[in-house]
Amino acid sequence: MRKIILASIVALATGTASMAAINTASCKGCHGQNFEKKALNVSRVVKDLTAAQIEEALKGYKVGKGGPMKGIMKDKIAKYSDADIEAFAKSVGKK
Ligand code: HEC
Repeated sequence: MRKIILASIVALATGTASMAAINTASCKGCHGQNFEKKALNVSRVVKDLTAAQIEEALKGYKVGKGGPMKGIMKDKIAKYSDADIEAFAKSVGKK
């Protein structure tokens, strides 16, 4: 009997590494260039929130908490790690 071993090809190139940081270019359409707008007239003005408030809101979206339009944000933020969220909150939050 001949054993045929099929080598599996592992595709490492796609979808494995998470992005290093939050890509804010994807946020600006709703939140404004510097997070100065109320997204869709619903959100708070993110740049006026403290880092702690931003962090709390974004971590909340990941686990399904938030305001009436939280579904939109869950979709945007689910792929980011807590560390990414913390770094974003520090850079955008009110000093
Ligand atoms: C399609 C429009 C849209 C995009 C794109 C979007 N957001 Fe939002 N964001 C919203 C809405 C609407 C809310 C309010 C959701 C709710 O009801 O809680 C919100 C809420 C937030 C909040 C919390 C503000 C609050 O009111 O507590 C933060 C922080 C935030 N977004 C950051 C981001 C970041 C970072 C990105 C990019 C990765 C992003 N958003 C992309 C629409 C958007």
